[in-house]
Amino acid sequence: MEQTELLAKDDAFIAEALKLRFHPMTVKSAEGCQLQDSNGKCYLDLTAGWAVANVGYGRKSIAEKIKQQYEELSFTTQLSAPSETMIQLAEKLIDLTPGDFDKKVWFGHSGSDANDLISKFVPVATGRSKMISFMGAYHGQTMGASSLSGHSAQAKFEGRGNVVKIPYPNLYRPFSGISENLTEQSLHFLNEVFQTICPAEDTAGIILEAVQSDGGMIFPPVEFLRALREICDTHGIYLIFDEVKVGMGRTGKWFSFEHAEIVPDAVVLGKALGAGLPISAVVGRKELLDCVSAGHLFTASGNPISTAAALEGIRIIEEEQLLANAEKQGNLFINELKKLAEKYECIGDIRGKGLAIGVEIVEDRMTKKPATLKTAALCYRAYELGLLVYNVGIHGNVLEITPPLSMNSEEVVDSLQLLSQAFMDVEAGNIDLEEVKQYSGWG
Ligand SMILES: Cc1ncc(COP(=O)(O)O)c(C=O)c1O
Repeated sequence: MEQTELLAKDDAFIAEALKLRFHPMTVKSAEGCQLQDSNGKCYLDLTAGWAVANVGYGRKSIAEKIKQQYEELSFTTQLSAPSETMIQLAEKLIDLTPGDFDKKVWFGHSGSDANDLISKFVPVATGRSKMISFMGAYHGQTMGASSLSGHSAQAKFEGRGNVVKIPYPNLYRPFSGISENLTEQSLHFLNEVFQTICPAEDTAGIILEAVQSDGGMIFPPVEFLRALREICDTHGIYLIFDEVKVGMGRTGKWFSFEHAEIVPDAVVLGKALGAGLPISAVVGRKELLDCVSAGHLFTASGNPISTAAALEGIRIIEEEQLLANAEKQGNLFINELKKLAEKYECIGDIRGKGLAIGVEIVEDRMTKKPATLKTAALCYRAYELGLLVYNVGIHGNVLEITPPLSMNSEEVVDSLQLLSQAFMDVEAGNIDLEEVKQYSGWG
Protein backbone atom coordinates (compact mmCIF):
# COMPACT_ATOMS: atom_id res chain seq x y z
CA MET A 1 0.00 0.00 0.00
CA GLU A 2 1.17 3.55 -0.79
CA GLN A 3 2.24 5.69 2.16
CA THR A 4 -0.44 8.34 1.52
CA GLU A 5 -3.15 5.69 1.61
CA LEU A 6 -1.71 4.11 4.77
CA LEU A 7 -1.52 7.49 6.48
CA ALA A 8 -5.14 8.21 5.58
CA LYS A 9 -6.15 4.89 7.15
CA ASP A 10 -3.94 5.59 10.17
CA ASP A 11 -5.74 8.90 10.55
CA ALA A 12 -9.13 7.21 10.29
CA PHE A 13 -8.55 4.11 12.41
CA ILE A 14 -5.79 4.68 14.99
CA ALA A 15 -6.64 6.44 18.24
CA GLU A 16 -5.01 9.80 18.93
CA ALA A 17 -4.20 8.42 22.41
CA LEU A 18 -1.51 6.35 20.72
CA LYS A 19 0.08 9.09 18.65
CA LEU A 20 3.21 11.12 19.24
CA ARG A 21 4.14 12.23 15.75
CA PHE A 22 7.02 14.29 14.38
CA HIS A 23 6.48 13.65 10.67
CA PRO A 24 4.13 11.86 8.27
CA MET A 25 5.66 8.43 7.80
CA THR A 26 4.80 4.75 7.84
CA VAL A 27 7.66 2.27 8.09
CA LYS A 28 8.08 -0.70 5.79
CA SER A 29 11.39 -2.20 6.81
CA ALA A 30 14.57 -1.56 8.77
CA GLU A 31 18.11 -2.88 8.99
CA GLY A 32 21.07 -1.81 11.12
CA CYS A 33 20.62 1.92 11.76
CA GLN A 34 18.39 2.59 8.74
CA LEU A 35 14.65 2.55 8.21
CA GLN A 36 12.75 2.51 4.96
CA ASP A 37 9.32 4.11 4.63
CA SER A 38 6.43 2.67 2.68
CA ASN A 39 7.50 4.63 -0.42
CA GLY A 40 11.00 3.13 -0.30
CA LYS A 41 12.80 6.24 1.00
CA CYS A 42 15.65 5.51 3.47
CA TYR A 43 16.38 7.29 6.72
CA LEU A 44 19.26 7.19 9.18
CA ASP A 45 17.79 6.68 12.60
CA LEU A 46 18.76 8.77 15.62
CA THR A 47 15.77 7.53 17.64
CA ALA A 48 16.18 3.73 17.86
CA GLY A 49 12.36 3.85 18.03
CA TRP A 50 12.41 5.64 21.39
CA ALA A 51 15.54 3.85 22.56
CA VAL A 52 14.32 0.32 21.87
CA ALA A 53 16.59 -0.81 19.02
CA ASN A 54 19.87 -0.66 20.98
CA VAL A 55 21.31 -3.48 18.89
CA GLY A 56 19.91 -1.97 15.68
CA TYR A 57 17.17 -3.42 13.46
CA GLY A 58 16.75 -6.76 11.72
CA ARG A 59 19.37 -8.83 13.55
CA LYS A 60 19.50 -12.24 11.89
CA SER A 61 20.54 -14.08 15.06
CA ILE A 62 17.60 -12.63 16.99
CA ALA A 63 15.22 -13.59 14.18
CA GLU A 64 16.60 -17.15 14.32
CA LYS A 65 16.24 -17.36 18.11
CA ILE A 66 12.65 -16.14 17.91
CA LYS A 67 11.83 -18.70 15.19
CA GLN A 68 13.55 -21.58 17.03
CA GLN A 69 11.84 -20.63 20.26
CA TYR A 70 8.43 -20.41 18.65
CA GLU A 71 8.87 -23.81 17.02
CA GLU A 72 10.06 -25.42 20.26
CA LEU A 73 7.74 -23.64 22.68
CA SER A 74 5.45 -20.95 21.29
CA PHE A 75 3.97 -20.12 24.67
CA THR A 76 3.74 -21.13 28.26
CA THR A 77 2.20 -19.03 30.92
CA GLN A 78 5.23 -18.39 33.03
CA LEU A 79 2.96 -17.67 35.98
CA SER A 80 2.06 -21.31 36.37
CA ALA A 81 4.60 -23.27 34.31
CA PRO A 82 7.85 -21.35 33.64
CA SER A 83 10.25 -21.95 30.76
CA GLU A 84 14.03 -22.08 30.79
CA THR A 85 14.41 -18.79 28.88
CA MET A 86 12.63 -16.75 31.56
CA ILE A 87 14.75 -18.26 34.31
CA GLN A 88 17.98 -17.76 32.33
CA LEU A 89 17.11 -14.14 31.67
CA ALA A 90 16.34 -13.49 35.33
CA GLU A 91 19.69 -14.99 36.32
CA LYS A 92 21.50 -12.85 33.72
CA LEU A 93 19.81 -9.64 34.87
CA ILE A 94 20.68 -10.39 38.48
CA ASP A 95 24.33 -10.80 37.40
CA LEU A 96 24.33 -7.51 35.47
CA THR A 97 22.74 -5.46 38.24
CA PRO A 98 24.99 -4.23 41.06
CA GLY A 99 24.09 -4.98 44.69
CA ASP A 100 25.50 -7.47 47.13
CA PHE A 101 22.16 -8.65 48.47
CA ASP A 102 19.50 -11.20 47.58
CA LYS A 103 17.73 -10.09 44.42
CA LYS A 104 14.80 -11.31 42.40
CA VAL A 105 13.29 -10.42 39.05
CA TRP A 106 9.74 -9.62 37.95
CA PHE A 107 8.74 -9.53 34.26
CA GLY A 108 6.07 -7.53 32.44
CA HIS A 109 5.44 -6.03 29.01
CA SER A 110 6.20 -2.31 29.19
CA GLY A 111 8.06 0.26 31.20
CA SER A 112 4.68 1.39 32.47
CA ASP A 113 3.59 -1.92 33.99
CA ALA A 114 7.02 -2.29 35.62
CA ASN A 115 6.79 1.14 37.24
CA ASP A 116 3.24 0.27 38.23
CA LEU A 117 4.70 -2.56 40.29
CA ILE A 118 6.90 -0.03 42.09
CA SER A 119 3.88 2.15 42.79
CA LYS A 120 1.97 -0.80 44.27
CA PHE A 121 4.68 -2.83 45.99
CA VAL A 122 6.99 -0.28 47.60
CA PRO A 123 4.29 1.05 49.98
CA VAL A 124 3.16 -2.50 50.83
CA ALA A 125 6.71 -3.83 51.38
CA THR A 126 7.61 -0.99 53.75
CA GLY A 127 4.25 -0.46 55.45
CA ARG A 128 4.64 3.24 54.63
CA SER A 129 2.20 5.10 52.45
CA LYS A 130 4.08 7.83 50.62
CA MET A 131 6.31 7.97 47.55
CA ILE A 132 8.59 10.72 46.29
CA SER A 133 9.29 11.29 42.62
CA PHE A 134 10.43 14.16 40.42
CA MET A 135 8.96 16.90 38.28
CA GLY A 136 9.67 16.16 34.63
CA ALA A 137 9.88 12.40 35.27
CA TYR A 138 8.30 10.04 32.76
CA HIS A 139 7.56 6.64 34.29
CA GLY A 140 4.71 5.53 32.02
CA GLN A 141 1.00 5.72 31.35
CA THR A 142 -0.74 3.13 33.52
CA MET A 143 -2.29 4.67 36.62
CA GLY A 144 0.47 3.77 39.08
CA ALA A 145 3.27 4.75 36.69
CA SER A 146 1.44 7.90 35.65
CA SER A 147 1.01 8.88 39.30
CA LEU A 148 4.76 8.65 39.80
CA SER A 149 5.39 10.77 36.69
CA GLY A 150 5.87 14.51 36.62
CA HIS A 151 5.81 15.04 32.88
CA SER A 152 3.39 17.25 30.99
CA ALA A 153 2.25 14.12 29.09
CA GLN A 154 0.50 12.82 32.23
CA ALA A 155 -0.68 16.18 33.57
CA LYS A 156 -4.29 15.77 32.41
CA PHE A 157 -4.94 12.69 34.52
CA GLU A 158 -5.72 12.43 38.20
CA GLY A 159 -3.38 9.92 39.78
CA ARG A 160 -2.86 8.29 43.14
CA GLY A 161 -2.69 10.87 45.90
CA ASN A 162 0.27 9.42 47.78
CA VAL A 163 3.06 10.82 45.57
CA VAL A 164 4.97 14.01 46.34
CA LYS A 165 6.94 15.49 43.44
CA ILE A 166 10.06 17.53 43.94
CA PRO A 167 12.25 19.47 41.46
CA TYR A 168 14.87 17.53 39.50
CA PRO A 169 18.25 19.26 39.58
CA ASN A 170 18.61 20.65 36.08
CA LEU A 171 21.79 22.70 35.77
CA TYR A 172 20.58 24.45 32.61
CA ARG A 173 17.16 25.37 34.04
CA PRO A 174 17.52 25.29 37.84
CA PHE A 175 14.14 25.40 39.61
CA SER A 176 15.18 28.42 41.68
CA GLY A 177 16.74 30.18 38.71
CA ILE A 178 20.16 29.78 40.35
CA SER A 179 22.44 26.93 39.29
CA GLU A 180 25.04 27.46 42.02
CA ASN A 181 24.92 24.80 44.75
CA LEU A 182 22.08 23.06 42.94
CA THR A 183 22.63 19.80 44.81
CA GLU A 184 22.34 21.61 48.16
CA GLN A 185 19.25 23.49 46.96
CA SER A 186 17.55 20.28 45.85
CA LEU A 187 18.42 18.48 49.08
CA HIS A 188 17.13 21.47 51.04
CA PHE A 189 13.85 21.20 49.14
CA LEU A 190 13.66 17.49 49.93
CA ASN A 191 14.29 18.19 53.59
CA GLU A 192 11.44 20.76 53.60
CA VAL A 193 9.20 18.09 52.11
CA PHE A 194 10.24 15.66 54.87
CA GLN A 195 9.49 18.33 57.49
CA THR A 196 6.04 19.13 56.12
CA ILE A 197 3.89 17.03 53.79
CA CYS A 198 5.90 13.82 53.54
CA PRO A 199 7.65 12.76 56.76
CA ALA A 200 10.68 10.56 56.13
CA GLU A 201 9.29 7.87 58.43
CA ASP A 202 6.15 7.68 56.24
CA THR A 203 8.11 7.62 52.98
CA ALA A 204 8.31 4.21 51.34
CA GLY A 205 10.43 5.00 48.30
CA ILE A 206 12.06 7.56 46.07
CA ILE A 207 11.96 6.79 42.36
CA LEU A 208 13.89 8.64 39.69
CA GLU A 209 15.69 8.43 36.38
CA ALA A 210 19.46 8.92 36.72
CA VAL A 211 19.09 10.75 33.40
CA GLN A 212 15.69 12.33 32.90
CA SER A 213 15.20 11.51 29.22
CA ASP A 214 11.63 12.37 28.17
CA GLY A 215 11.97 15.24 30.62
CA GLY A 216 14.63 16.77 28.34
CA MET A 217 17.77 14.63 28.57
CA ILE A 218 18.81 16.14 31.87
CA PHE A 219 21.87 14.90 33.76
CA PRO A 220 21.72 15.70 37.48
CA PRO A 221 24.95 16.18 39.46
CA VAL A 222 26.31 12.79 40.57
CA GLU A 223 26.67 14.18 44.12
CA PHE A 224 22.91 14.62 44.19
CA LEU A 225 22.37 10.94 43.34
CA ARG A 226 24.92 9.89 45.96
CA ALA A 227 23.26 12.09 48.57
CA LEU A 228 19.89 10.53 47.80
CA ARG A 229 21.39 7.09 48.45
CA GLU A 230 22.65 8.23 51.85
CA ILE A 231 19.34 9.85 52.77
CA CYS A 232 17.45 6.70 51.83
CA ASP A 233 19.84 4.59 53.91
CA THR A 234 19.41 6.89 56.91
CA HIS A 235 15.62 6.75 56.81
CA GLY A 236 15.05 3.18 55.58
CA ILE A 237 13.57 4.41 52.28
CA TYR A 238 13.82 2.35 49.09
CA LEU A 239 15.73 4.03 46.25
CA ILE A 240 14.52 2.96 42.83
CA PHE A 241 16.05 3.84 39.47
CA ASP A 242 13.93 3.80 36.35
CA GLU A 243 16.36 2.69 33.61
CA VAL A 244 13.66 1.93 31.05
CA LYS A 245 15.01 4.39 28.50
CA VAL A 246 18.70 4.89 29.12
CA GLY A 247 19.51 1.49 30.62
CA MET A 248 20.84 -1.56 28.74
CA GLY A 249 24.10 0.15 27.79
CA ARG A 250 22.97 3.44 26.27
CA THR A 251 25.15 5.71 28.43
CA GLY A 252 28.25 3.52 28.04
CA LYS A 253 27.47 1.50 31.18
CA TRP A 254 24.74 -1.09 31.57
CA PHE A 255 22.81 1.33 33.79
CA SER A 256 23.07 5.09 33.98
CA PHE A 257 23.09 5.22 37.81
CA GLU A 258 26.42 3.34 37.67
CA HIS A 259 28.11 6.62 36.70
CA ALA A 260 27.37 7.78 40.27
CA GLU A 261 28.74 4.50 41.72
CA ILE A 262 25.66 3.85 43.79
CA VAL A 263 23.51 0.76 44.28
CA PRO A 264 19.73 1.05 44.06
CA ASP A 265 17.24 -1.20 45.86
CA ALA A 266 15.40 -1.82 42.60
CA VAL A 267 16.05 -1.15 38.92
CA VAL A 268 13.26 -0.84 36.36
CA LEU A 269 13.96 -2.03 32.80
CA GLY A 270 12.00 -2.10 29.54
CA LYS A 271 12.31 -0.83 25.97
CA ALA A 272 15.73 -2.11 24.75
CA LEU A 273 15.58 -5.16 27.02
CA GLY A 274 13.58 -7.13 24.42
CA ALA A 275 15.60 -5.93 21.39
CA GLY A 276 12.28 -4.97 19.79
CA LEU A 277 9.95 -7.44 21.48
CA PRO A 278 7.79 -6.22 24.35
CA ILE A 279 9.19 -7.07 27.75
CA SER A 280 9.96 -5.20 30.95
CA ALA A 281 11.56 -6.18 34.23
CA VAL A 282 12.16 -5.05 37.75
CA VAL A 283 15.34 -6.34 39.36
CA GLY A 284 15.26 -5.64 43.04
CA ARG A 285 15.63 -6.72 46.62
CA LYS A 286 14.06 -10.10 47.24
CA GLU A 287 11.93 -8.83 50.13
CA LEU A 288 10.45 -6.12 47.89
CA LEU A 289 9.54 -8.35 44.96
CA ASP A 290 8.32 -11.16 47.20
CA CYS A 291 6.06 -8.97 49.33
CA VAL A 292 2.75 -9.97 47.69
CA SER A 293 2.36 -13.35 46.07
CA ALA A 294 0.51 -13.13 42.71
CA GLY A 295 0.30 -9.37 43.26
CA HIS A 296 1.30 -8.00 39.86
CA LEU A 297 1.00 -10.65 37.19
CA PHE A 298 0.06 -10.62 33.54
CA THR A 299 -0.76 -13.78 31.61
CA ALA A 300 2.02 -13.38 29.02
CA SER A 301 4.64 -11.90 31.41
CA GLY A 302 8.14 -13.18 30.66
CA ASN A 303 6.85 -15.18 27.69
CA PRO A 304 9.33 -17.52 25.97
CA ILE A 305 9.61 -15.46 22.77
CA SER A 306 10.37 -12.13 24.44
CA THR A 307 12.78 -13.69 26.92
CA ALA A 308 14.63 -15.58 24.16
CA ALA A 309 14.99 -12.33 22.17
CA ALA A 310 16.19 -10.47 25.28
CA LEU A 311 18.87 -13.10 26.00
CA GLU A 312 20.17 -12.85 22.43
CA GLY A 313 20.08 -9.05 22.56
CA ILE A 314 22.23 -9.04 25.71
CA ARG A 315 24.62 -11.53 24.13
CA ILE A 316 25.05 -9.21 21.14
CA ILE A 317 25.67 -6.17 23.36
CA GLU A 318 28.39 -8.10 25.17
CA GLU A 319 29.96 -9.75 22.14
CA GLU A 320 30.08 -6.57 20.04
CA GLN A 321 31.12 -4.41 23.00
CA LEU A 322 28.32 -1.98 22.34
CA LEU A 323 28.82 -0.19 25.68
CA ALA A 324 32.28 0.90 24.55
CA ASN A 325 30.91 1.81 21.13
CA ALA A 326 28.17 3.94 22.71
CA GLU A 327 30.84 5.86 24.61
CA LYS A 328 33.04 6.29 21.53
CA GLN A 329 30.28 7.40 19.14
CA GLY A 330 28.71 9.56 21.84
CA ASN A 331 31.97 11.51 22.22
CA LEU A 332 32.13 11.95 18.46
CA PHE A 333 28.56 13.28 18.39
CA ILE A 334 29.17 15.71 21.24
CA ASN A 335 32.42 17.09 19.80
CA GLU A 336 30.80 17.71 16.43
CA LEU A 337 27.60 19.12 17.94
CA LYS A 338 29.72 21.63 19.84
CA LYS A 339 31.09 22.84 16.50
CA LEU A 340 27.52 23.21 15.24
CA ALA A 341 26.72 25.28 18.33
CA GLU A 342 29.41 27.77 17.28
CA LYS A 343 27.36 28.45 14.15
CA TYR A 344 23.82 28.42 15.55
CA GLU A 345 22.80 30.68 18.44
CA CYS A 346 19.62 28.66 18.89
CA ILE A 347 21.63 25.77 20.35
CA GLY A 348 21.38 26.61 24.04
CA ASP A 349 22.93 23.51 25.54
CA ILE A 350 24.41 20.16 24.55
CA ARG A 351 24.58 17.39 27.11
CA GLY A 352 25.08 13.69 26.98
CA LYS A 353 26.69 10.46 28.07
CA GLY A 354 27.31 7.74 25.53
CA LEU A 355 24.44 7.68 23.06
CA ALA A 356 21.98 9.52 25.31
CA ILE A 357 22.37 13.07 24.05
CA GLY A 358 20.19 16.16 24.23
CA VAL A 359 20.47 19.37 22.21
CA GLU A 360 18.37 22.14 23.77
CA ILE A 361 16.96 24.67 21.31
CA VAL A 362 16.23 28.20 22.55
CA GLU A 363 15.07 31.56 21.16
CA ASP A 364 18.29 33.10 22.43
CA ARG A 365 21.02 32.08 24.82
CA MET A 366 20.43 34.93 27.27
CA THR A 367 16.73 34.36 27.99
CA LYS A 368 16.85 30.59 27.29
CA LYS A 369 13.25 30.85 26.10
CA PRO A 370 12.37 27.41 24.72
CA ALA A 371 12.08 27.42 20.90
CA THR A 372 9.45 24.71 20.72
CA LEU A 373 8.21 25.22 17.17
CA LYS A 374 11.75 25.60 15.85
CA THR A 375 12.64 22.27 17.47
CA ALA A 376 9.68 20.62 15.75
CA ALA A 377 10.78 22.26 12.48
CA LEU A 378 14.27 20.81 12.91
CA CYS A 379 12.81 17.31 13.39
CA TYR A 380 10.59 17.79 10.37
CA ARG A 381 13.32 19.14 8.11
CA ALA A 382 15.68 16.36 9.22
CA TYR A 383 13.01 13.85 8.24
CA GLU A 384 12.65 15.46 4.82
CA LEU A 385 16.42 15.14 4.41
CA GLY A 386 16.44 11.47 5.45
CA LEU A 387 17.27 11.64 9.16
CA LEU A 388 14.96 10.65 12.00
CA VAL A 389 15.21 12.59 15.25
CA TYR A 390 12.52 13.33 17.86
CA ASN A 391 12.18 15.97 20.50
CA VAL A 392 11.66 15.65 24.26
CA GLY A 393 11.40 17.85 27.32
CA ILE A 394 8.55 19.50 29.15
CA HIS A 395 8.80 22.36 26.62
CA GLY A 396 9.36 19.98 23.66
CA ASN A 397 12.55 21.86 22.79
CA VAL A 398 15.26 19.25 23.17
CA LEU A 399 16.44 17.21 20.20
CA GLU A 400 16.99 13.71 21.49
CA ILE A 401 19.85 11.72 19.99
CA THR A 402 19.46 8.08 20.95
CA PRO A 403 20.51 5.97 17.96
CA PRO A 404 21.21 2.24 18.03
CA LEU A 405 24.35 1.53 20.07
CA SER A 406 25.68 -0.29 17.01
CA MET A 407 25.98 2.93 14.98
CA ASN A 408 29.42 3.32 13.39
CA SER A 409 31.51 6.48 12.98
CA GLU A 410 30.60 6.85 9.32
CA GLU A 411 26.90 6.83 10.17
CA VAL A 412 27.51 9.35 12.95
CA VAL A 413 29.26 11.69 10.51
CA ASP A 414 26.47 11.23 7.91
CA SER A 415 23.81 11.97 10.55
CA LEU A 416 25.64 15.09 11.63
CA GLN A 417 25.82 16.34 8.05
CA LEU A 418 22.07 15.90 7.65
CA LEU A 419 21.40 17.55 10.99
CA SER A 420 23.65 20.44 10.08
CA GLN A 421 21.74 20.86 6.81
CA ALA A 422 18.45 20.84 8.77
CA PHE A 423 19.76 23.66 10.99
CA MET A 424 20.84 25.64 7.94
CA ASP A 425 17.44 25.22 6.23
CA VAL A 426 15.38 26.02 9.30
CA GLU A 427 17.47 29.10 10.13
CA ALA A 428 17.09 30.23 6.50
CA GLY A 429 13.31 29.95 6.90
CA ASN A 430 13.02 27.27 4.20
CA ILE A 431 10.28 25.40 5.99
CA ASP A 432 6.53 25.80 6.28
CA LEU A 433 5.90 26.25 10.02
CA GLU A 434 2.13 25.83 9.57
CA GLU A 435 2.75 22.32 8.17
CA VAL A 436 5.10 21.57 11.06
CA LYS A 437 2.60 22.56 13.77
CA GLN A 438 0.62 19.32 13.42
CA TYR A 439 3.86 17.34 13.95
CA SER A 440 5.12 18.98 17.10
CA GLY A 441 5.10 15.70 19.03
CA TRP A 442 4.45 16.35 22.71
CA GLY A 443 3.39 19.97 22.12
C1 LIG B 1 12.13 6.37 31.78
C2 LIG B 1 10.88 5.73 31.26
N1 LIG B 1 10.17 4.94 32.07
C3 LIG B 1 9.06 4.33 31.65
C4 LIG B 1 8.59 4.52 30.37
C5 LIG B 1 7.33 3.85 29.92
O1 LIG B 1 7.65 2.78 29.09
P1 LIG B 1 6.54 2.14 28.12
O2 LIG B 1 6.23 3.17 27.09
O3 LIG B 1 7.21 0.92 27.58
O4 LIG B 1 5.36 1.81 28.97
C6 LIG B 1 9.29 5.34 29.49
C7 LIG B 1 8.80 5.57 28.12
O5 LIG B 1 9.24 6.45 27.43
C8 LIG B 1 10.47 5.97 29.95
O6 LIG B 1 11.18 6.78 29.16
